[in-house]
Amino acid sequence: MYLTAEVTLQEEVVEGIYRLCIFTPTIASLAYPGQFAMIRGWEGYDPLLSRPLSFHRIDFQCGQVEFVYKVVGRGTALMSKWRPGHRVAVLGPLGNGFPAPVAPAVAVIGRGMGTVPLLPLVESARREGIGVFSFLSASHAGGLVDLDRFMSCSDQVFVRTDDGSLGAPGVVSEDLERVAKSTQLSAIYCCGSRRLARAARDLAIFLRIPAYVSLEAHMGCGVGACKGCVCETKDGYSKVCKDGPVFELNEVVF
Ligand SMILES: Cc1cc2nc3c(=O)[nH]c(=O)nc-3n(C[C@H](O)[C@H](O)[C@H](O)COP(=O)(O)OP(=O)(O)OC[C@H]3O[C@@H](n4cnc5c(N)ncnc54)[C@H](O)[C@@H]3O)c2cc1C
Ligand code: FES
Repeated sequence: MYLTAEVTLQEEVVEGIYRLCIFTPTIASLAYPGQFAMIRGWEGYDPLLSRPLSFHRIDFQCGQVEFVYKVVGRGTALMSKWRPGHRVAVLGPLGNGFPAPVAPAVAVIGRGMGTVPLLPLVESARREGIGVFSFLSASHAGGLVDLDRFMSCSDQVFVRTDDGSLGAPGVVSEDLERVAKSTQLSAIYCCGSRRLARAARDLAIFLRIPAYVSLEAHMGCGVGACKGCVCETKDGYSKVCKDGPVFELNEVVF
């Protein structure tokens, strides 16, 4: 059931990328890292469909959830006009999130907006005293959202940008491979790039540790009713909204 909620903050983090905070105590008390919400906040049925966004921060004490999104089309452009006090409809938390991190240490590897759902996981691992190694990449420095928050919650952060504006140009999966040889990792979590996901999968198989990926798909309902979001897995087709968005990396056919 959609809940009515209120926007408490909207800010442009870098050009075209926004931070949106919503006061919704029920959802904040139930959500966990890797889950998402379907959101709408416009009059009438244009656009018809709500838009899915991953939780970027879950603050159950303040009853607030935070999203970070890139404006790519009409829905997100309308979203960027919302101001504090604006009333929205939110359905969530939805989907299966990331399995809880376990000691001694986990690696997260993400690219661009794919780093968004990894941050609450990193923050929860930090709260539990579990080591975190973050491997982040983007086309340019501005695409690495909330790098400071990753840095404050990780033992080490490795950054690569395509244009070399932050970190050396290169492939962040090679950094992961290097670290994995000298550090005992319990799992790898991945989002935002098929190439990085394939590299993480191969490494996880070699290390014999679990690895998980958060997938994106165009979504109609967000709750498993429309079959608009299927992805191919080893067992056939799965619904990203209901069976995912987090899957065991080895189960997904890339
Ligand atoms: C589970 C889930 C979590 C997500 N979390 C985030 C997030 O935290 N931050 C964020 O910026 N975005 C996230 N997305 C993507 C976001 O939902 C889309 O960018 C958004 O719905 C686009 O709406 P629009 O009306 O602005 O664009 P549209 O007009 O619908 O589309 C504009 C362009 O974006 C592409 N697009 C639309 N939807 C998606 C999608 N789901 N995946 C990839 N490309 C798409 C279209 O092909 C088109 O080229 C998530 C998607 C899913 C499924
Ligand atoms: S979005 Fe409708 S089944 Fe997944």
